[in-house]
Amino acid sequence: MEKIDFISRSEEDTMAFAGTLCRKFPEGCVIALYGDLGAGKTVFARGFARALGITEPVSSPTYTILQEYPAPGGRYLYHLDLYRISDERAALAFGVDEYLESGEFVLVEWPERIAKLLPENTLKLEIVHLSENERHWQVKS
Ligand SMILES: Nc1ncnc2c1ncn2[C@@H]1O[C@H](COP(=O)(O)OP(=O)(O)O)[C@@H](O)[C@H]1O
Ligand SMILES: [Mg+2]
Repeated sequence: MEKIDFISRSEEDTMAFAGTLCRKFPEGCVIALYGDLGAGKTVFARGFARALGITEPVSSPTYTILQEYPAPGGRYLYHLDLYRISDERAALAFGVDEYLESGEFVLVEWPERIAKLLPENTLKLEIVHLSENERHWQVKS
């Protein structure tokens, strides 16, 4: 994986960045999004979905753990928000492994909750909140 080190200065910047990354993974991928509340994980998911041609609005409703978006070409985007999941056991109880191993596009917010279940080739992105509108995106070390 090439170096990812990007400063986003707006929501639109983050969405465009997500779109660029999306196009690098025609076969599907698991992307883990690490960052505090308000970092921009869901904005990234929105940009990613847009790049896949998904027109449905993308959000993180408070009590929805998994959102499934059909994409053109018979593909899927799975958007997981694990904020309310306590650990791997709770995630396995709803079948998280099937999504992670689906070969589709999978975006995971709060991936810390399932650290032991993330596939080896997961792209781990860390988002650091620099200022009101600036976010630093890097591969998590
Ligand atoms: N550069 C940026 N990238 C992404 N979001 C930004 C940026 N600057 C400001 N924001 C705002 O930060 C918030 C990010 O929210 P959200 O994506 O829901 O966060 P998370 O899912 O990480 O909790 C949004 O209100 C968005 O408008
Ligand atoms: Mg979110």
